Order: sequence, then structure tokens, then C-alpha cells
Amino acid sequence: MASPVFPLITRREALLAGAATAAAVSSAPAATSATAPAASAAAVSPEMKVSFSVNGTGHTLSLDTRTTLLDALREHLHLTGTKKGCDHGQCGACTVIVDGRRINSCLTLAVMHEGAKVTTIEGLGTPHRLHPMQAAFVKHDGYQCGYCTPGQICSAVAVLDEIQRGVPSHVTVDLNSRPLLSAEELRERMSGNICRCGAYSNIVDAVTEVAGSRA
Ligand code: FES
Ligand code: FES
Repeated sequence: MASPVFPLITRREALLAGAATAAAVSSAPAATSATAPAASAAAVSPEMKVSFSVNGTGHTLSLDTRTTLLDALREHLHLTGTKKGCDHGQCGACTVIVDGRRINSCLTLAVMHEGAKVTTIEGLGTPHRLHPMQAAFVKHDGYQCGYCTPGQICSAVAVLDEIQRGVPSHVTVDLNSRPLLSAEELRERMSGNICRCGAYSNIVDAVTEVAGSRA
């Protein structure tokens, strides 16, 4: 009988062969040409000075230019209220306010913010003098584990300013008038802040209350 053009192997044999190949690759010594650039990059640490204000206090830091604003705040200034969730711009836990605009601090380099005014959760209020948004989150149970909460609160404070300034969102119907303070607007604008505990409806209640007291 003629043999098949392609040898027949079972699925189990294919998986075993794949695993063996992967193990061989990972245990093989790395090629010199691949390690050389990494070693030289590690040896040269490009440092730069940057000065900015955080929560009203001026700071001058000498940073590796690759340091994100999030790491500068947490690791260099020890302001650990701002949280690192995904470190990829997908969860909003690292939201801070820079020159009046909310940004994901994990997605921006610290040295890009020379002269900026940065506000973190520590700069909004204190345990004894809560910011109205912090008080509303407490009142409405706008959190459970609290990990996303600093980012949610910074984001919510900036959202109300955006609406006040007439900045439209994807759900704004009339671009010629100020956006409404509707739940739909708030949900859309807060959609970049993920809460794994699912406290969304309470967060909307808290933001709505503060928005109402401002209107
Ligand atoms: S940590 Fe920055 S968006 Fe998730
Ligand atoms: S309160 Fe736990 S992730 Fe939002």
C-alpha cells in the first residue's frame, strides 16, 4: 500500500512534539547578538531632570526618561494613592488630573510634564476634610475593595469640569449646546474607569449628587 504524502500523527503526538520544541528553545543559550543591545541599554540609563507641582508642592526629580508619571508619583514621591492596575491604559486606576485634564498616568512619561500641575487623590481632600466627590462616594457606597476608587474619583471630578466647559462626549446629541448631566453622559465619560467590583450604579449616584449640588 502506498504511504500517505503527509505522515499521520495523533493530536497527542503533535502536542508532545510542540512542547519539546518550546522547551528546547527556552533552555538554549541566548544568542550573543540578541543580548548585546539589551545589556548596553541597561548600562546607559538616560536621566533627565523634570520639575512639576504635585498637589500644590513643587518637586524636581532626576528620572530615567522612561519613567512613567505613575511610577514617578508612586515610586519617587511615594504618593501611593494613585493605583497601578493594568499599566497599559486599559483600566483607569491610575487616573490623575494634569493641568485640569484627566489622564492615565501609566501612559505618559514623567519628563513630558515639565512645569505641569498634577493633582492626585491625595490632593483632592484629606480623611478629615473630604472633597465633595470623596464624601459622595462614601455616602453612596461607590466602592467595595477600593482599588479603582482614587482613579474613579479623580476622573469624576474632571468629568464634571469637562461638562461645565461644554466638552462633548460620544453620546452628546447636540454639539452646539452644553452637554446634559444625564446618567448616560456620566456612564459614557466614566467608561474608561473599570471597577472589577461592579460598583458602577453607586458611582453614578455619587457623581450625580455632586453634579446636582453644582448645577
Ligand atoms: S494602570 Fe493605567 S490605565 Fe490601568
Ligand atoms: S471598588 Fe473594587 S475595583 Fe472598584
